[in-house]
Amino acid sequence: MDEKIYVLGSRDNVKEGILKIGRYYAIDGSLGSNVYLDALKPHVILICGKRGYGKSYTMATIIEEMAMLDDEIKRNIGIVIIDTLGIFWTMFFPNKKQEKELEKWRLQPKNFDITIFSSRENVEEYRKKGIDAKELLIKTSEIEQHHWTQLFGLSLKDYVMAVIGKAIQKMKGSYSINDLIKAIYDDSKADEKVKAVAENFLAIANSWNIFGKEGIGVKDIVKKGRISVIDLSPYGEEIKVVLLAIIAKKIFEERVKERKKYEEGLLTDSKIKEDVPITWLAIDEAHVFLPHEKNISKDVLIKQWMRQGRQPGVALILATQRPSSLDEEVLSHADIIISHRLTAQEDIDALNKVRPTYMHESIGDAVKRIGKERGVAVIIDDTSESMHVIKIRPRLSWHGGEEPSAKH
Ligand SMILES: Nc1ncnc2c1ncn2[C@@H]1O[C@H](COP(=O)(O)OP(=O)(O)OP(=O)(O)O)[C@@H](O)[C@H]1O
Ligand SMILES: [Mg+2]
Repeated sequence: MDEKIYVLGSRDNVKEGILKIGRYYAIDGSLGSNVYLDALKPHVILICGKRGYGKSYTMATIIEEMAMLDDEIKRNIGIVIIDTLGIFWTMFFPNKKQEKELEKWRLQPKNFDITIFSSRENVEEYRKKGIDAKELLIKTSEIEQHHWTQLFGLSLKDYVMAVIGKAIQKMKGSYSINDLIKAIYDDSKADEKVKAVAENFLAIANSWNIFGKEGIGVKDIVKKGRISVIDLSPYGEEIKVVLLAIIAKKIFEERVKERKKYEEGLLTDSKIKEDVPITWLAIDEAHVFLPHEKNISKDVLIKQWMRQGRQPGVALILATQRPSSLDEEVLSHADIIISHRLTAQEDIDALNKVRPTYMHESIGDAVKRIGKERGVAVIIDDTSESMHVIKIRPRLSWHGGEEPSAKH
């Protein structure tokens, strides 16, 4: 007999393109039937919870499931992980650490094929481990004036920004930071002191080794059926924010173009080759990129990915320790919220503000009830307007986010 399945995030209870993320969990700790999540449609999934209760782990479990979808579906999906702490490379190794736990679930350790983009030094280290790694280089021509202001804490009204802006406008085609510096020096009308400050800023940016005359394109990062990890751990927070803003904007624009091609194909009844598949962007430590304050990665993620993302086919998996420190709009866009244990009242309050209309019990009360077991979570599914308590299945690949212990 066919197992009766219930798929979170799906209106039609589809049986394909579904992720088996865990099992129902009873308060006495017993496990019930499987829990599935829809991966055919783009979603905004928010994972939250107190430190050490399983956010990064759950994110990786969802990604593992995506990587194990049938080829026919998988090839229409590309996964990009924004890894702020440099912990996701361990997906390349099987989870030998939790073999016993996996056995209980009748699962076996498994490694996943990934490509990592990071600093030159990290690339060397990853290659030594046998992992496919590429240097994360952005084309200087893709950095707009508002990126420079965020990077250097400047305003568009500052003289130094005016000088940099003028040089950018003069540039044609691809250029390097040194080309920009030269253009500033050739600007005979600008004040010498302001030029010196501009050069200093640009020299600092040059030393980060992330901007080149040429750089990686969206097609290198988002690949059909593949997992790309963008390891941002070597960079400071401002740089992380700018890198994600640029990458997310490029992906969104490519997907808008792909979608247009697809519609045209339908109209003319011709077969269209998609270059950039539906993209799932998984962002760990999401509060860095989506804070209450003004921030350029937030602009791209909220205005483009969340408000308009369904149509072009871009989806998000966000993880944060502090739902209360996220821009309010994020919580309202999340159609699936997975909350592990939370105890800080302001975080519970932030969750309580969402979906109060159809909830019999507040999310905060439910989250308090789930206790201290790691990997247990409350899921709020906006599609079915329901709440569930589940245990996320153990990871097949090695989890890298563990706290160091002073014992070893
Ligand atoms: N579903 C699960 N099954 C088994 N063990 C789990 C599960 N979820 C989490 N764990 C255990 O909990 C530990 C902490 O998980 P994780 O690193 O995901 O925490 P986190 O919430 O991301 O914490 P932080 O806020 O510090 O990033 C893992 O190393 C793992 O041992
Ligand atoms: Mg984590």
